[in-house]
Amino acid sequence: MEKPYYFTWTKQKEALTLPLDKVEDHYFCYKNKKWINLSSISYQSHFGLQNKAITKAIQKQIEVIPMASPKHIFDLKEKVSQKLLSKLPFSNFKVFYTLSGSEGIENALKMARQVSQRKLVASLENSYHGATMGSLSVTGDWRNKDHIHPRQWSLKIPMPYEDPEGIKLQETIEAYGPKKIAAFCLETVTGGNGVFIHPKAWLKKLNWLCKKYGIFLILDEVVCGAHRTGPFFGLEHFPFLKPDFIVLAKGITGGYFPMGCVLTNKRISQYYQDNTLSCGLTNYAHPIGLAALQAVLKITELKSFHINRKKNEDYLKEWTKNLNNKAGITTRCIGSLAAIEGHNITQQELYDHGIYAPIQSGRIILAPPLTMKINTLKNGLKMVEKIL
Ligand SMILES: Cc1ncc(COP(=O)(O)O)c(C=O)c1O
Repeated sequence: MEKPYYFTWTKQKEALTLPLDKVEDHYFCYKNKKWINLSSISYQSHFGLQNKAITKAIQKQIEVIPMASPKHIFDLKEKVSQKLLSKLPFSNFKVFYTLSGSEGIENALKMARQVSQRKLVASLENSYHGATMGSLSVTGDWRNKDHIHPRQWSLKIPMPYEDPEGIKLQETIEAYGPKKIAAFCLETVTGGNGVFIHPKAWLKKLNWLCKKYGIFLILDEVVCGAHRTGPFFGLEHFPFLKPDFIVLAKGITGGYFPMGCVLTNKRISQYYQDNTLSCGLTNYAHPIGLAALQAVLKITELKSFHINRKKNEDYLKEWTKNLNNKAGITTRCIGSLAAIEGHNITQQELYDHGIYAPIQSGRIILAPPLTMKINTLKNGLKMVEKIL
């Protein structure tokens, strides 16, 4: 029967859905069936579906200041911002809050264009940066084709694995005119579009080109952030990268409240000391989101959290390595994020076997919650292996 609401990213008649009446630990349940959450839903439920610390923090906050009021100064806002920024391997960054990753990208694009007084933003041919018009303009994804955006907004760059030394990267940027490019927007590690871990030489070339031509570097850490790839930020794998903007969302609240943010360096924050920041949202720095973020940051300081996360990462790495080259399968894995391609499994088959994980452009993307117990993860992966 037709539903009174839409399903995202699909023909409504063909929507592949699952019934749900409750969640339990790391499982979605309906009557006596259950599905294991092997993708952290859409890469956001890092801390499980029933995290007591996060829920309690939210409940407590509702009693104190339940609504956003962007102009107000309050302790929680100050403390959480300081704490989040202290996770960075850089100093003198500042945070702008949003309610999603797309809005984080939108605001980074707006600021980069405003500060540089340039229009165009470069990004990878195969990438995902969001679903709003601005973030779509830098997204390289087949679902983009029906949405019109001005051509002068974005320049698409060949994928780094096809150009490991960054030769085409440099040619494309120099042929277009580097002084016309406001920013390069990059997923530090490609998320749902294939878990591509970019070659270091390519990333070094990108960083060098950005500095040489005054192009801002926007790192999209919407998927990578909050320990998805191991360290808190994906960029920590590449210490030579010097971003101007870092966009976070998803895991920073574990999915318990919609929140994203843009971290900006001193050059950007200095500009806005004397120039109007023409960016803002009604629900800017929402206290409930801040409370969830604070709870997440506390969890990420627990030794037990990291012991569990590391155990899972090691297991996932070994498991994907063993699958590699078996029956034409290729895998890529970094931290708690993995892609499996070269199989012929369908989404329905995964669901039928109790696995909740997406198949995007033919790839199974695995992103288990970081708090999942190792035996639960082993059981889930055993089932995926059985289907493969
Ligand atoms: C890398 C990346 N950037 C940005 C976004 C957009 O985030 P949101 O869906 O919260 O707007 C996503 C969403 O999947 C993403 O994967």
